[in-house]
Amino acid sequence: MANTSFQAPPLTQSTDAHTTLCAALGGLGSVRIRCSTPGLEHVASAELQRKLNASIIEVQPGNVECTIDCSAMSPAATRDQLYSLHSVEHIFAVLYSGRLPSIMASESATAEAALEHITDAIINGITAEQWRGALALWASCLATDSSSCTSTSIAKLSFKVTKRKVCAKGKNKTGKLLHPFNSTQLAQSVFKAVQAVHNGWEGVLDDPDLTIFVRVAKTSVLVCIPLCPTPIWEATPSGGSTRRLFSKGNRNLGVKTPLKPTIAYPLVHCAGNLDGTTDIIVVDPCCGSGTVGECACLDADGVGSSSSSIGRDSIRRPVFVVSGDMDEAAVRIAADNAGRRRCAIGRRRQCLIDVVRWDAANLPLRDNIVDRIASDLPFGRKCGSRRSNRCLYPRLFRECARVLRPMPPVVKGGGAGSGGAERTGGDGEGDRERGGVATILSCDRMNLLKGVEGSGLKLWSEYVINIGGLNGAVLVLEKASS
Ligand SMILES: C[S@@+](CC[C@H](N)C(=O)[O-])C[C@H]1O[C@@H](n2cnc3c(N)ncnc32)[C@H](O)[C@@H]1O
Repeated sequence: MANTSFQAPPLTQSTDAHTTLCAALGGLGSVRIRCSTPGLEHVASAELQRKLNASIIEVQPGNVECTIDCSAMSPAATRDQLYSLHSVEHIFAVLYSGRLPSIMASESATAEAALEHITDAIINGITAEQWRGALALWASCLATDSSSCTSTSIAKLSFKVTKRKVCAKGKNKTGKLLHPFNSTQLAQSVFKAVQAVHNGWEGVLDDPDLTIFVRVAKTSVLVCIPLCPTPIWEATPSGGSTRRLFSKGNRNLGVKTPLKPTIAYPLVHCAGNLDGTTDIIVVDPCCGSGTVGECACLDADGVGSSSSSIGRDSIRRPVFVVSGDMDEAAVRIAADNAGRRRCAIGRRRQCLIDVVRWDAANLPLRDNIVDRIASDLPFGRKCGSRRSNRCLYPRLFRECARVLRPMPPVVKGGGAGSGGAERTGGDGEGDRERGGVATILSCDRMNLLKGVEGSGLKLWSEYVINIGGLNGAVLVLEKASS
């Protein structure tokens, strides 16, 4: 196979690592990226397509792989667009993604033979163009408050290899261990292969400029570069227009179970974008620190969005959020967070979040006025109990059915067999011009499903997401026609 060793481009004179690396690598082209997400991958795919015009390659549980064409954007604009994604946790520039059949299939596969495949994939399977694209994207994402790269030379980067072996202890059909090598051997092989391509790179254990991540699962191998050392919602691109509200130390997280924004955002959007011809009213009846309500405003108020998405979103109708909780401390915290958002977005934009103390089983709201209810209910561990859920959920769902907007009347000949207007594409299942929708999250799935029975809501769809290792159920519910 042809050796496609990487030639480091000449450097310009500059002291700023980010600018110099970007300049050295030239403009960005088409790059393959992999985004991890806690679930609701359809929301992440749609957000990637909407904000980055991404071509989706593969959607797997917890991951979306796509290509983005950055040729028409500056490195800073590309970075801003990546940081405007709200349903994505980590982003990686993919160097190699392929199958390694001999590891599984061959009975006689030895560690050396299996690892040789991986080494060969890195040395000969990654073209110079792929290295350049991935490194250019990585360099363009460097200027964040969480990056520590100080090198100004692509030829002299320090790096380390991190690895993950999935199903490491599994056995194949012949009873042999699935992978005939251990994680340390894997990391060592990858390290040597990377140094064979980039012979000026120095391996270090602490504070590397760059991390190469390798993941081996059954017969597949992935080699990629993490674009940010932290989840992207925690990091702030330096020079970004606004400090990101969900970054560390920027929110009051005094409640027991604050939801990650990468779960709260898809929860609000999994039944479609909050776009419409009229103003949108969103309610979170059990708001805790208010993450879900704040995520309903993301994109609409421009916080955390890049300048281009602010421009696009400014034509959207306002989103009015009413968040409520029974607990007095939670209400104070949610109001504090809404206040911080107000300060961060400034006078030019509106932050339409009201925080109220209420009992979700007895909402002080009129009938038929709410477009979207999105909530992360107490699920019985750390917060509430299964016993109290048995009583709370049916009452809460009856209230949801009462306040949600009903379906629009059936138009003869219109709507594909639906009880209202047709469903069209959006971040979730379609922009529901059909009436109000509730998207409800809880790890207490049994009580959720029981609570829906006879509540006046009907189940439209259900998803499973990963909440700190627990399986959470997300129910998409709409008002049953009377
Ligand atoms: C899982 S937590 C919500 C966490 C929230 N998503 C966040 O990001 O902070 C559930 C919340 O429901 C509230 N709650 C429990 N019973 C309630 C009721 N009957 N009415 C209103 N809120 C209630 C609890 O006080 C708790 O804050």
